[in-house]
Amino acid sequence: MTGLCGQGNIKQCIHDHTMQTFYIETLGCQMNVLDSELASSALHRAGLQQTDAPVNADVILFNTCSVRQHAEEKVYSALGRLKNWKEEKPLGILGVLGCMAQKDQRRIFQRAPHVDFVLGPGRLDMLVETIEQLCNEKPQPTKTVCVSLSRIERPPLEVLESFRQYNPNRDNPQREYVSGTACGTPSLVRIVFGCDQFCSYCVVPFVRGPEQSRPPQDIANEVRHLAGRGVTQITLIGQTVNSYRYQTGEKKTRLADLLYQLSNIAGIEQIDFVTNYPLGIDNDLLQAVRDLPQVSKHLHIPAQSGSDAVLRRMNRHYTASQYREMVDRIYGTISGATLTSDFIVGFCGETEEDFELTVELVKYCRFRNSFIFKYSERSGTKAAELYTDDVPDEVKKYRNNRLLDIQIGISRQN
Ligand code: 5AD
Ligand code: SF4
Repeated sequence: MTGLCGQGNIKQCIHDHTMQTFYIETLGCQMNVLDSELASSALHRAGLQQTDAPVNADVILFNTCSVRQHAEEKVYSALGRLKNWKEEKPLGILGVLGCMAQKDQRRIFQRAPHVDFVLGPGRLDMLVETIEQLCNEKPQPTKTVCVSLSRIERPPLEVLESFRQYNPNRDNPQREYVSGTACGTPSLVRIVFGCDQFCSYCVVPFVRGPEQSRPPQDIANEVRHLAGRGVTQITLIGQTVNSYRYQTGEKKTRLADLLYQLSNIAGIEQIDFVTNYPLGIDNDLLQAVRDLPQVSKHLHIPAQSGSDAVLRRMNRHYTASQYREMVDRIYGTISGATLTSDFIVGFCGETEEDFELTVELVKYCRFRNSFIFKYSERSGTKAAELYTDDVPDEVKKYRNNRLLDIQIGISRQN
């Protein structure tokens, strides 16, 4: 990117061009909720005010999700509806952030030509500068793409550097920009960036980049800072949060160690962590959950399927009986433990028998709740390359509803 504001003073730059307000819409998971909070804080620090009404905004941002086709279509429809806004406000700036930005990049301009910039989740640190640059170039700003490098095309070290860890101080004086203080929900604290699991159906390792654990000292400082602002509940987040691992010299810190450290911080009353990968739920972690009163006894551990054949094609690295054994260990270690899971129904080649194995797994595990999704083919993934999306949509819908009914029955008994 070139042509950044010469004065280096974003406030001046924004106000000279009558930029006053921004609106941000967030879709998808808690990663995006946190990214939107960090983006809002940065824009606020730069002198913009947040508004709840997109029509009034000078800058509109969509923080997007790519996990399923449906989520992307929702964004493209919403962007389409903003054509009028752009016509009425030609100096307004429209930006697409999040996973779709990294996945579709320049293609977004083809479907929504009134979008001004696209900024991937690994480049959130560039948000203010990007807006500043567009501001300087008015009335005809260049379409800007600011994304990380492709994981399959570029050397691993370069890729890693291009997915930047963005951990600004959450020091915004306006409490509403820190989740968890104003609305009674937990503050989100990222401990792991990216994902290295490469489940065959999933776009996340490509759009969120390589797995990177944050230094424990940084995490503890952030939690201390949040506690100082009155936060009592925190949720540690990572795509595979239980793979947290940080090593300096001889000292290795795992998730269990981190839970002990964070439980010692005055003011922190509740600690959750999501999302877990079924492998790596080790006994140290379960004992930490059992022994630390601050740590929630609820674990979200997506199983995705109960069929070994489907799990193999999904590249999930465990069998249904290993998952059951893990569940037994959890219930056996932590009295009063509750579990939730995610399932994908109608994955490539899923037969009626495969699906029935998933039903059996749900019954066996007595989940408090399950989040059930119809398989959605994602371009660039191994599943899209290797397998046919051959389960008809009516069958996916039927399996989705049937599994949901079974889960509702179990949830009622719990
Ligand atoms: N199709 C359907 N569901 C998916 N998920 C991830 N990728 C896909 C896909 N291509 C689901 C998984 C994951 C949850 C966040 O989204 O169940 O755990
Ligand atoms: Fe996607 Fe699998 Fe990583 Fe979860 S663990 S984000 S499903 S690749």
